[in-house]
Amino acid sequence: MKPIQVGILGIGTVGSGVFNVLQRNQEEIKRRAGRGIEVTMVSRRNVAEAQALVGDRAQVVADARAIIANPDIDIVVELIGGYTLAKELVLEAIAAGKHVVTANKALLAVHGTEIFAAAHAKGVMVAFEAAVAGGIPIIKALREGLTANSIQWVAGIINGTTNFILSEMRDKGLDFAVVLKEAQRLGYAEADPTFDIEGVDAAHKLTLMSAIAFGIPVQFDKAYVEGITQLGSQDIKYAEQLGYRIKLLGITKRTPQGVELRVHPSLVPAKRLIANVEGAMNAVVVQGDAVGTTLYYGKGAGSEPTASAVIADLVDITRLHTADPTNRVPHLAFQPDALSDLQV
Ligand code: HSE
Repeated sequence: MKPIQVGILGIGTVGSGVFNVLQRNQEEIKRRAGRGIEVTMVSRRNVAEAQALVGDRAQVVADARAIIANPDIDIVVELIGGYTLAKELVLEAIAAGKHVVTANKALLAVHGTEIFAAAHAKGVMVAFEAAVAGGIPIIKALREGLTANSIQWVAGIINGTTNFILSEMRDKGLDFAVVLKEAQRLGYAEADPTFDIEGVDAAHKLTLMSAIAFGIPVQFDKAYVEGITQLGSQDIKYAEQLGYRIKLLGITKRTPQGVELRVHPSLVPAKRLIANVEGAMNAVVVQGDAVGTTLYYGKGAGSEPTASAVIADLVDITRLHTADPTNRVPHLAFQPDALSDLQV
């Protein structure tokens, strides 16, 4: 069977990770997917930069729409980020009958309802494992592994940049601004780092986890969002003296009044596992009624960890699409539970 054809919109750090991992583990991935997966087209405004990343392994175009217009492309991977152009392109890809894989948490947290509805109407999949907690397969865990459970709460460190900043400030006594620059250099931070330090990026991810955990629509606008910009090294030191660590936590919880959705700095007892998550690592704790407490830990950002999640979605879509190209089994485009009476 001919390999499934993939086009990447916005090749960069994550896109080149996808390229490299797909190539390195080609045979294993092919066996698992039941079919080869090939990136045949990539886009980036600066073609020379893209060419430097992919060489002659794929066709490089400046205009992302050339990928969407190509009838041979089965799956579009959106790695452009942001709300505006990315939204237009994702909706155009869906309208053209392409499946979509995206790492864009901002886009889905804000416009997810519209995008998922368009995907359902068209019968295509929108998969977003890479949008939350980088390489940790938390979307799959919530959607599949824990599907028997009534989820009570989900809490986690879901922004690597702020966790890196808090860790470095505590361990090395470094200044906030110095550590933020380092996080940017290491490629952890968002293009607009205020999204990281003001808690917005964590709230985007929390909104997506909350929607899946509780079967509710994505509702970023209802989240309480507070970042780490008001924290000083004194706060970190005093917390330490009292036996606590300060962590930027995202918490979503089922309560009699509705679903809580909040991101803010929290005092965590130093003995807790989650208090010892250091650097740009992420950790998510999920409490289900049947399973009890479960913990997921791993790299929340970076080229190959995020590529690992993108490729997991490519494999899922390849399997489902190959099994049933006409019906396109819609379970990968999230839909709220119509019977859920939970509200944020
Ligand atoms: N800026 C994000 C972080 C990247 O620091 O976690 C991964 O979503």
